[in-house]
Amino acid sequence: MTANEIRLSFLSYFERNGHRIVASSPLVPHDDPTLLFTNAGMNQFKDVFLGKEKRDYTRATTAQKCMRVSGKHNDLDNVGPSFRHHTFFEMLGNFSFGDYFKREAIPFAWKLLTEEWKLQPDRLWATIFNGDAAVPRDDEACDIWRKFLPVERIGELGAADNFWQMGDTGPCGRCSEIYYFRGSEVGCNEEAAGGVCRGSSAAATASSKIWNNVFMEFDRQANGTLNPLPAPSIDTGMGLERVTAVIQGHLSNYDTDLFTPLLRAIGERAGTTHRGTMEPPDVSMRVVADHMRAMTFLIADGVVPSNEMRGHVLRKIMRRAMRHGQRLGVLEPFLHTLVDVIVREFGDAYPELKAGRSAIVQVVRSEEERFDAVLTDGLPKLEDVLDKAAAGNKVVSGDVAFRL
Ligand code: ALA
Repeated sequence: MTANEIRLSFLSYFERNGHRIVASSPLVPHDDPTLLFTNAGMNQFKDVFLGKEKRDYTRATTAQKCMRVSGKHNDLDNVGPSFRHHTFFEMLGNFSFGDYFKREAIPFAWKLLTEEWKLQPDRLWATIFNGDAAVPRDDEACDIWRKFLPVERIGELGAADNFWQMGDTGPCGRCSEIYYFRGSEVGCNEEAAGGVCRGSSAAATASSKIWNNVFMEFDRQANGTLNPLPAPSIDTGMGLERVTAVIQGHLSNYDTDLFTPLLRAIGERAGTTHRGTMEPPDVSMRVVADHMRAMTFLIADGVVPSNEMRGHVLRKIMRRAMRHGQRLGVLEPFLHTLVDVIVREFGDAYPELKAGRSAIVQVVRSEEERFDAVLTDGLPKLEDVLDKAAAGNKVVSGDVAFRL
């Protein structure tokens, strides 16, 4: 299946199971000062979970545009070296607002993975919350999983992994994560350490975490207290990039068709090919590809580069992509020429890309030219200031530093 088919198949599976397909909300959250960017599928339903808003459906499914570059969920530093992290990604999710709970959610997930998508059941394993002073062990989730998995493939972890919350406050709950074991393909670190490869240990990095099922029950207050939600609810999130890698049989998300057309286009500009290694050109190609998607989707949602808040994060991402472009030997502005690849690949799923195409190209181009001018103008000035300081009292005045 192509990534576009996987996205559609997820949505249609849940639609057949009574869920309303709801469009992704924009990357800029509507009326939520606790959040810089949308970082999970549940964001647009926050008030529905809290009982402050009613919709005319109690089950929903989405493919949600997400950014994880700030706040509680931040993957920026992993992008480049990692094969599985992104600033921008798509989160597939199913939601229940006081409708079904764990007894339905876990079988929904299991059947999609093993019957619809035909992933090998014996490569799947799951984790549950092992309990702490505030919230007990999730016995119920464990019992439900026992219908599908042997006990040694049900891991038990603490709050860092198995208690999910959107931010410091808001809807939260215990969760169960589903992993796909790839040990025999990539070598297992338990085996490397002289043990038996079980694939269920949190240390088994040879597994891909593909899906998080959150059992929403609480509303965390600023003082840490957990108040109950009006009704137990379900929030799930599956990274389209990761599950596509699993289904397409790739170890790296960057080898899936979500990235290969873009990496090919970057390679054409840079006169190189992405080989999926940890060597500098491949790392830089992944940074450019990741950041290109992020900037295109952000600008389509109305963010413009600036020195404040969201605009500042966008500018940082754009300049990082430009610097990595230069490391690849592309010295002239070229990112704006890659926008069309993304519009072509994602424009059917996200029509705002098609509608915004020429504005996006223009914003990227002018930021590239601006940064070019900053470097051309600013670098000699900086060098001059540093030379003078080195020859003198080794101090750059605050005034000069500010102007630089
Ligand atoms: N909201 C949950 C997450 O982002 C599903 O992992």
